[in-house]
Amino acid sequence: MSLETMSVFSPQLAARFDALVEKYPMRRSALIPMLLYAQDEIGYLSDAVIAEVAERIGITELDVRNVATYYSMLRFKPAGRYNVQVCTNISCMLRGGNAIYERFQQELGIGHKGVTTDGLFSLEEVECIGACCWAPAIQVNYAFHDELTPEQVPDILDAYRGKALAEGDAAHA
Ligand code: FES
Repeated sequence: MSLETMSVFSPQLAARFDALVEKYPMRRSALIPMLLYAQDEIGYLSDAVIAEVAERIGITELDVRNVATYYSMLRFKPAGRYNVQVCTNISCMLRGGNAIYERFQQELGIGHKGVTTDGLFSLEEVECIGACCWAPAIQVNYAFHDELTPEQVPDILDAYRGKALAEGDAAHA
């Protein structure tokens, strides 16, 4: 495969990878950032993504999978457009994190690692996301929402539904 002509990544991300692997004394040290950037662009670590990352670094696909499967933030199936991660670790649990998680499950009709049928939301129960001082906290893609109550959950979801609509309208304008 010629990486220039057959890449699954955008030219911008491919160039970023080329620069990244040269930054480390060992090319495989770039593996985790490459997987995160790849997931951001493609949505998940497909077989094609894993194959190309392996080729770019010069390791086997099995090497990539052995590392990638260790990290819970890396996905092997598509997530929703908005991936809702609800922390139920100790600080959040003590301040109502489980009730927040239950409310998201009710509102979305899905459980852990589920995706809504319209593909808009996915849901995950996660460990600490580093916002303990503002517990209970969630993360939606890269945006934090903190000091939440279950009553705020429908409004948060509506805000993302509105955002999706607005972005959809902008894309078709
Ligand atoms: S325990 Fe929930 S953010 Fe740290």
